[in-house]
Amino acid sequence: MSAPATTATTGVPFYSGAASVRRDWAGLAARLRTVTATGRFTFGPVGSELERAISARTGAAHAVAVNNGTDALIIMLRAAGIGPGDEVIVPAYTFFASASSVLHVGAKPVLVDIQPGSYALDPERVRAAVTDRTRAILPVHLFTQMADMVALGEIADEHKLQLLEDSAEGIGMHIDGRHAGRWGRAGVLSFFPTKTLGALGDAGMLLTDDDELARTARRLRCHGQPSDGSYEYLELGYNSRCDEVQSAFLLWRLERLDAEIARRADLAARYDQRLGDLAPQVRTPWLAPARRQSNLVYYVYLIECERRDELVAYLTAHGVGTEVYYPRPLTEQPCLAARAGVDQPVPVAKAASQRAVGLPMFPDLTDEQVDRVCDLIHEFYQERP
Ligand SMILES: Cc1ncc(COP(=O)(O)O)c(C=O)c1O
Repeated sequence: MSAPATTATTGVPFYSGAASVRRDWAGLAARLRTVTATGRFTFGPVGSELERAISARTGAAHAVAVNNGTDALIIMLRAAGIGPGDEVIVPAYTFFASASSVLHVGAKPVLVDIQPGSYALDPERVRAAVTDRTRAILPVHLFTQMADMVALGEIADEHKLQLLEDSAEGIGMHIDGRHAGRWGRAGVLSFFPTKTLGALGDAGMLLTDDDELARTARRLRCHGQPSDGSYEYLELGYNSRCDEVQSAFLLWRLERLDAEIARRADLAARYDQRLGDLAPQVRTPWLAPARRQSNLVYYVYLIECERRDELVAYLTAHGVGTEVYYPRPLTEQPCLAARAGVDQPVPVAKAASQRAVGLPMFPDLTDEQVDRVCDLIHEFYQERP
């Protein structure tokens, strides 16, 4: 086995946003100056401009900016009237917040298996998990593609359930031109720094066409304060603001979002091409069978592979950053075990948790860096046929 190369010359980070800031510091500084010039650092005109821009981008009638994607989920569930006694169907394979947000509003997440490829709710399993306490289905769009929203929408209609989307990772994803977060009553976006549209810290947003839900969300993000600004609180809300600096940064990044999504697709095609011959040890991303297909937006380039943990250790030793999404299904999260409902086994989620790993993916990643990662993966499997 070759000795690990020094990370200084050949290391590849999992994610870095430094180069794009360096390249257009002047443009970013101009955006940030609009904030300092107004003297309003939160709930100001730049935040409103961001909300309008995201509305225009996604087609949602209302975009309500909040402090992060997790808050957006909690506020969405509260505004949709989900609470104690209710069950919400959540995939067993997703980020913790998809389920913890349901518990935060006093309801019970019911964890259901996913489909291979999309890593999203399996509609047939969802159908089997509906009970008379089910109030909502919470599909999550992970990594590159959306859940089968047509099939899930039919189940929701059949059982008179709300469809509430965890589209935290979904910016740019759509089916038939309809953006993620716009297939149900409401959806959310996360602007966590590594996301396809990432902030300079934390930020998130709720999307909806429902006027009443949007009004409630605007109150809840501000302690429950009524829209007239009076200090008479009729309900308990949160302190969940998206400040003006984050909004300015996001507006700056929004200008290059399409180019960045295209660059991510080029990088993914290079990974596909360089890793394709390693099948079946390595499986590159594939489209799940769905009635209508989502486009692919490579927020994460996720492979499934044999001896995943050994491969991760090998790449780490050679200075390559990876991220294991997600090392265990939610059914095995200690904090959820006693509180979530699990009425079926989740073999697809379990297999993904043992085989999946995200490789470096960000717009400033170079072709040479992708080649370096792929060379190392080839080396790893050559040395362990
Ligand atoms: C699927 C999913 N849901 C929810 C969240 C929570 O978003 P945030 O980190 O902005 O709170 C994230 C992002 O981290 C996510 O990927």
